[in-house]
Amino acid sequence: MDEYNIMLSVNEMPDAWYNIAPDMPAPLEPPLHPVTHQPATADDLAAIFAPSLVAQEMSQERWHSIPGEVMDIFRLWRPTPLRRAYRLEKLIDTPARIYYKNESVSPSGSHKINTSVAQAYYNKMDGVSELSTETGAGQWGTALSIACSMLDMKCTVYMVRVSFEQKPYRRVLMETYGGNVKASPTDETDAGRMMREQFPGTTGSLGMAISEAVEVAVKSGGSVKYSLGSVLNHVCMHQTIIGLEARKQLEKVGDYPDVVIGCCGGGSNYSGIAFPFMQDKMKGGRDIDFIAVEPTACPTLTRGLYAYDYGDTAKMTPLLKQYTLGHNFVPPGIHAGGLRYHGVAQTVANLTHAGVMRAVALHQNPVFEALIQFAQAEGILAAPESGHAIRVAIDEAKHCRETGEAKTILFNLSGHGHFDMTAYQAYLNKELKDFDLDQSFIDQAEASVPKL
Ligand SMILES: Cc1ncc(COP(=O)(O)O)c(C=O)c1O
Repeated sequence: MDEYNIMLSVNEMPDAWYNIAPDMPAPLEPPLHPVTHQPATADDLAAIFAPSLVAQEMSQERWHSIPGEVMDIFRLWRPTPLRRAYRLEKLIDTPARIYYKNESVSPSGSHKINTSVAQAYYNKMDGVSELSTETGAGQWGTALSIACSMLDMKCTVYMVRVSFEQKPYRRVLMETYGGNVKASPTDETDAGRMMREQFPGTTGSLGMAISEAVEVAVKSGGSVKYSLGSVLNHVCMHQTIIGLEARKQLEKVGDYPDVVIGCCGGGSNYSGIAFPFMQDKMKGGRDIDFIAVEPTACPTLTRGLYAYDYGDTAKMTPLLKQYTLGHNFVPPGIHAGGLRYHGVAQTVANLTHAGVMRAVALHQNPVFEALIQFAQAEGILAAPESGHAIRVAIDEAKHCRETGEAKTILFNLSGHGHFDMTAYQAYLNKELKDFDLDQSFIDQAEASVPKL
């Protein structure tokens, strides 16, 4: 048996991000202005985002070098380990080789900080002093709060009300890093007030929190910009450092994946692990099974419509061509808070539509069964979101046991679950409910997407 951990030295850390836009099987359709429905210009996007990030968003350049100051901050925890899951393999008695990229070792406990540091850096370079954002379970708000504290910027976080109330320690964590956390919808923004009137007693949603954070940026006159933790091209690009490192690490042990798995909320950690390998399938003809995993309670890729839709409830963001459950969708309260978003990255949507990758949806009980198995075999308490990838990795490895195939399975361990103990407790107490989304939700989505 070789080492558990396949490491890279800091000097081996990739120094450029991979932008998949020029390599898409079908060109990406342009973002549309939320009011005119015409293709959004760079100026339109710059009302919300820093100009440097708008340039990345629209870029057709394949490689973008990582600035030195960002590399310096990354060196606090990167390169992250690639772990061979020998103990899990033994437990399930599989001939498959299972590897996972461990993004839970970051200061924020998840992959989200890979883009928050980059976004804070470019905003600062563009003269912005404050960032506003939304957060569901708190992972993204934590990552942005840390990045802002490291780069000496202010950070305001609109936290979905249900999580604000249920996850007080996440809030304290963000406040520890200097984040100003508000329970969304608030009564401080037009969007928040409108939502409270329209949906009395609402527990909030990511779509609502995004509306509030965008409004604050738009009305600031340029000092505040909005920062999004997933979905956008530049965010997914920042995450490719995960897969680029994993590629080098697998090369060190002479291996290459047959199956690449990531959980999928807005699509950023999935893009991070998968995109750096996709060229080998699209242009090199390599047979790789790319699998994005989502919850049955929020089945964006598996049951959503392929259509242009807004990213938020109040229709303030540009329209993106994506899979969507409708911008008014409020998902059932499952514990994988980071996977409860109505839409998905347009790149991931495009690649799914083109058949380069596929998506599967899981109930939360089998996900937690896999999380417990993983914790007991590998010693790591993973996030409920990451549990979706673990479940599929285990199922693929079990399938190999049946067929006798020695496949190489790679998945992304997007974060740890140290703040998710109520979810683990609910599972252990047999209190977790599985949700299948009623068809009426999909019909509502159909009615709500803009008719262009
Ligand atoms: C640990 C973890 N994994 C995955 C996700 C899903 O986001 P994305 O699809 O952008 O990676 C989240 C979102 O908050 C998360 O916290």
